[in-house]
This record gives sequence, C-alpha cells and structure tokens, in this order.
Amino acid sequence: MRGKLIVFEGIEGSGKTTQIQYLRQWLDSKFTKDGLSSDPTGVIVTRQPGGTSIGQQIRQVLLQPSVGTESLTSTSELLLYAADRAHHVERILLPALETGHLVLCDRYTASTVAYQGYGRKLDLGLIKTLNTIATKGLTSDLTLWLKLDVAVGLKRMANRGQADRIEQAGIEFHRRVHGGFAAQAQQDRFITVDGSLTQEAVAEQIQAIVSTYLQQWYAL
Ligand SMILES: Nc1ncnc2c1ncn2[C@@H]1O[C@H](COP(=O)(O)OP(=O)(O)OP(=O)(O)O)[C@@H](O)[C@H]1O
Ligand SMILES: [Mg+2]
Repeated sequence: MRGKLIVFEGIEGSGKTTQIQYLRQWLDSKFTKDGLSSDPTGVIVTRQPGGTSIGQQIRQVLLQPSVGTESLTSTSELLLYAADRAHHVERILLPALETGHLVLCDRYTASTVAYQGYGRKLDLGLIKTLNTIATKGLTSDLTLWLKLDVAVGLKRMANRGQADRIEQAGIEFHRRVHGGFAAQAQQDRFITVDGSLTQEAVAEQIQAIVSTYLQQWYAL
C-alpha cells in the first residue's frame, strides 16, 4: 500500500473536524513548499460514517436514531457502522491508498470500540471481528486521539447548539466512551494529543507528531 492513513479520534467536541482542516492546510503548504505537490499525490479528507453517498444515507439514520417511539437497537447501530465502514473502505480508502494518497479520516475503528464497546457495552470480541471484516484488515498508519474532558466537549457542543445529541445518551455514556479511547491509548501508532489547548496549540502538537511520521514514510 503506497499511501498512508491518518485517523482522528475522540469524543464529540474534541476538535477532530477542526484539526483535520488545520492539518490539511499545513500538509498542502508543506508539500507545495517542498515541491512535492504531486507525490504523495495529494491529501484526501474523509470520514466515517458518511464518507460516501451511500454512507451519507447510513449516517442520517445513525444521527437520527429514533422515528416516533421506535429507536435503533445497540446491535442494529453497530451493524450500520460496520456497513458504512465496509463500503467506505472498499470504495474510498483502499483505492486512495493504493494510488498513494495521504488520507485523513474523521473516526475509524477505535470509535466503534469506544462507543459501541465501552459506551453501549457490546461484546469487544465481536466488535474486533466486525472491524476486521469491515476493514478487510486495513489498519491506520497513525491514529491521533484528541483527549478532552467530557464536560469540556459537552460545553463546546452546547456552544454550537448541539448539546442535545450528547445529552440524549447521557454524560455517563460519554465517560465510558472516553474510557474506551483511553483503554486503546497504549496501542502502537495510537498517539494521545492534548485536546484542551487552543486550536492553534493543538494543531502544533499534531504537526510535530505528523512530521516524525512523514520522515519515516517519505523521508521528508
Ligand atoms: N481547541 C479548541 N478550543 C476551543 N474550542 C474548540 C477547539 N477545537 C474546536 N473547538 C470548537 O468546538 C466545537 C467542536 O469542534 P469540532 O467540530 O472540530 O469537534 P469534533 O471532534 O469534530 O466533534 P464531532 O464529533 O461532533 O464531529 C466547534 O465549535 C469548534 O469550533
Ligand atoms: Mg466533527
């Protein structure tokens, strides 16, 4: 696989989408400055769920998990995430990586471990198996966990008018999710970033980490 996959993980409001944009701009200017705009052949930004047209439809169901009094079960939620992931890996990630792109992905397998495993308390062995099936064994080359206190994430989402999404599940659920990310923090290529700093300071931490990986990958 010629390309590289960088994944951003963390609870709601931890800054994943914000930091992906910072990193994309930094990478674009770095590659242009170094005369490398064509190889690695550009940066692709994508996400799970919702990184494909079909995935967008799956995402809609996941973000509005109730219709009237009927709500998604934990298992149907898990399988919808797996379906989105299987589709996205095959349609977007594998082709992009095979052609040498550097891919920045908003959430990946660690989110399912944290949310469905630790948050919803579904079987971790089953989740691991499903992740392997959905990804065809594709693992990230680098995962950046934006570590942030749950209460701070909640406050940021409230400022954005989206507190209801978090509050529906309850603060205890999000504490378990946070614990789920923490439980994965010792894994290889899973790097913890302090998400509580200013956006610029978080971006600088990420740039320093990514720089060392770019050196390994591309001798940059
Ligand atoms: N370092 C920061 N300090 C303060 N506010 C921040 C910081 N980073 C992001 N924010 C703000 O917090 C909110 C959530 O950020 P963002 O959308 O990047 O988080 P996210 O991890 O992508 O959340 P979600 O999981 O809901 O997509 C936004 O309003 C953003 O402007
Ligand atoms: Mg986001």
